[in-house]
Amino acid sequence: MNASAVTSDLSELVSSAADSFARAATPADLENAKALFLGKAGRVTELMKGLGALSIDEKKSRGAAINQAKQAIEAALGARRQALADAELARQLQAEALDVTLPGRQRGGGGLHPISLAWERIEQIFGSMGFDVADGPEIESDWFNFTALNNPPNHPARSMQDTFYVDLKDEQGQAYCLRTHTSPMQIRHATAHAKKHAEALARGEMSEIRVIAPGRTYRVDNDATHSPMFHQVEGLWLGENVSFKDLKVTYLNFCKAFFETDELILRFRPSYFPFTEPSAEIDIQFQSGLLAGRWLEVSGSGQVHPQVVRNMGLDPERFIGFAFGSGIDRLAMLRYGVNDLRLFFEGDIRFLSQFR
Ligand code: PHE
Repeated sequence: MNASAVTSDLSELVSSAADSFARAATPADLENAKALFLGKAGRVTELMKGLGALSIDEKKSRGAAINQAKQAIEAALGARRQALADAELARQLQAEALDVTLPGRQRGGGGLHPISLAWERIEQIFGSMGFDVADGPEIESDWFNFTALNNPPNHPARSMQDTFYVDLKDEQGQAYCLRTHTSPMQIRHATAHAKKHAEALARGEMSEIRVIAPGRTYRVDNDATHSPMFHQVEGLWLGENVSFKDLKVTYLNFCKAFFETDELILRFRPSYFPFTEPSAEIDIQFQSGLLAGRWLEVSGSGQVHPQVVRNMGLDPERFIGFAFGSGIDRLAMLRYGVNDLRLFFEGDIRFLSQFR
């Protein structure tokens, strides 16, 4: 065996290994190809076994040559491994590529519902006029919703309000309903503070109630201007000498602040409520803008009836004043130019997003 034959058979082996490594398309193919050359029964191992038949000198040179070839094959294998790994990484990067130039997904900016906006405005404006804010139950007893408000059972005025009754009676056999107005809050708030007021009066101090109570109310009614659930804000101002004139001034100032215009007038149209005497509907007329010239009803009102003050546990000679109950939805419709009440309750984003 001459030196050049040795070199050529080994270099052929190396290039044939490099070829089959190059043909391996996957890491698994590559491992199979590796076994053919470097495995236990592989071609390099076979050559090593053949060394035993050679002389010491031949062993040395042939062994060194085989080792060199083996190293070359291992180097080719390592290079192919790396190439396959690089290709796999490149494929993954390609598959998971992010186009950072695409516009981001935006989080929709939330906003308050127009009724909530109107509600908050009302609290803020009356707050600035010294009114507290009270809150009470929507499932209300017959006493608070009607009887205490001078509207006893079988009184014809009960039919002014188409009532949802609740299938519930307490131990005294008292019926419950979904409150038809926020007026029960007059009684609830006043009785809750009656003791404090009586004590103040006994000390010779002036005492008064000045409160609003916004909230949800319910009546059997459903069309473009009535919803079975709607919102009212009750107002109550009782003191030593709170008159109908104070009602007019307070309500006018409220409207000017709420609608942000001085170009409006109010009309107090005589009406009837069991809990006020005299009573009036409050109509508003804008002097400019889309609604100019039309009378629009926004509130019931009146001087609180002495019997109602008695039912509050207060002395009607000392606690004199007015109450009103206004439709928050109606106020919101006028302020925002909404012509159908039902839009407020349909939850349509296209409508609601206009108030952000
Ligand atoms: N509660 C009456 C209604 O809902 C409105 C009102 C409140 C009238 C207070 C007078 C005083 O119709």
